[in-house]
Amino acid sequence: MEYVIQTENLTKYYGWLFWKKQEPSLENLNISIPKGSIFGFLGPNGAGKTTTIRLLMDLIKPSSGTATVLGCPPDNIEIKQRIGFLPDTPAFSSYLSAYEFLDTCAKLLRIPSSERRNRIEEVLETVKMSKHAKGKLGTFSRGMLQRIGIAQAILNKPELLILDEPLLGLDPYGRQELKDIILNQKRNGTNVFFSSHILSDVERICDHIAILNKGHLLCSGKLDDLLSAVGYRLHIKTGNDELAKSLMDEASGTMRLPDGGWELTFSKTESLPRLNDVQSKNRETVTLTPMRENLEDFFFRKIENDDRK
Ligand SMILES: Nc1ncnc2c1ncn2[C@@H]1O[C@H](COP(=O)(O)OP(=O)(O)OP(=O)(O)O)[C@@H](O)[C@H]1O
Ligand SMILES: [Mg+2]
Repeated sequence: MEYVIQTENLTKYYGWLFWKKQEPSLENLNISIPKGSIFGFLGPNGAGKTTTIRLLMDLIKPSSGTATVLGCPPDNIEIKQRIGFLPDTPAFSSYLSAYEFLDTCAKLLRIPSSERRNRIEEVLETVKMSKHAKGKLGTFSRGMLQRIGIAQAILNKPELLILDEPLLGLDPYGRQELKDIILNQKRNGTNVFFSSHILSDVERICDHIAILNKGHLLCSGKLDDLLSAVGYRLHIKTGNDELAKSLMDEASGTMRLPDGGWELTFSKTESLPRLNDVQSKNRETVTLTPMRENLEDFFFRKIENDDRK
């Protein structure tokens, strides 16, 4: 499998605070982010997400360990043009207009002058800021600035987008639009790695996640694999009361549906072999679906069970 980001024992100590050596902000991080994924990077405040992102962007150097981004070390100049980046606290020159700012970014990215105007108009349209192209950044709200930050990150049609809390400051429309932008980026072949505290949004759009706590990785992998089944839902079509009744003792919940069918829920995973058997013998009338743990419950469970908390 190809990976867009890989880290091996990546560790960062920022140094000393007065006389006391600081705890590592990141310790022995090992993650592999497969090509083609939308990767959600999660963790409470101070977990080490921004530190990791800064290391991947070569804004700070690791104390030990290594990282590769698009197959190269983070200090490789060539890869900079293939990455789109939104920092956690972007600094904007307040006297520039949105267009002038993006034009400067486009020049730095060496986008040819013949393509610059079109490309800037395209990204302004994508982040729904076309009508503010001439507005000065100093007069923009936090959410508007975040949109401009996202516009500059996608300006060079990057292969990899690294976004530090892109949903911060966006209203519900902005969040929905950003989720659509991220999904579209993925459809166009861009890999996306972003940190966020908004677990419901992460659950909706990410296929892979990692959770950090106090500089340590608690888990990482495919969302579907991590959010294991916490139970099963059996839908029985109308006209099968006998079958429904035979399963009721074992079910943790039963519900008669308005159409006369039944929905039974089973919270014990031991019921699975029996339910699979029922389904295979009644394919036309019975549907079995796993009930997943939601990401929020999973996140809290992982953090609560971490000895370092
Ligand atoms: N420049 C710095 N100098 C010293 N310590 C730092 C520095 N930057 C971060 N830290 C420390 O490193 C730890 C991890 O911080 P980091 O910013 O990576 O967390 P985060 O997961 O991004 O948190 P948040 O969700 O609040 O953005 C924290 O304990 C923080 O105090
Ligand atoms: Mg951060």
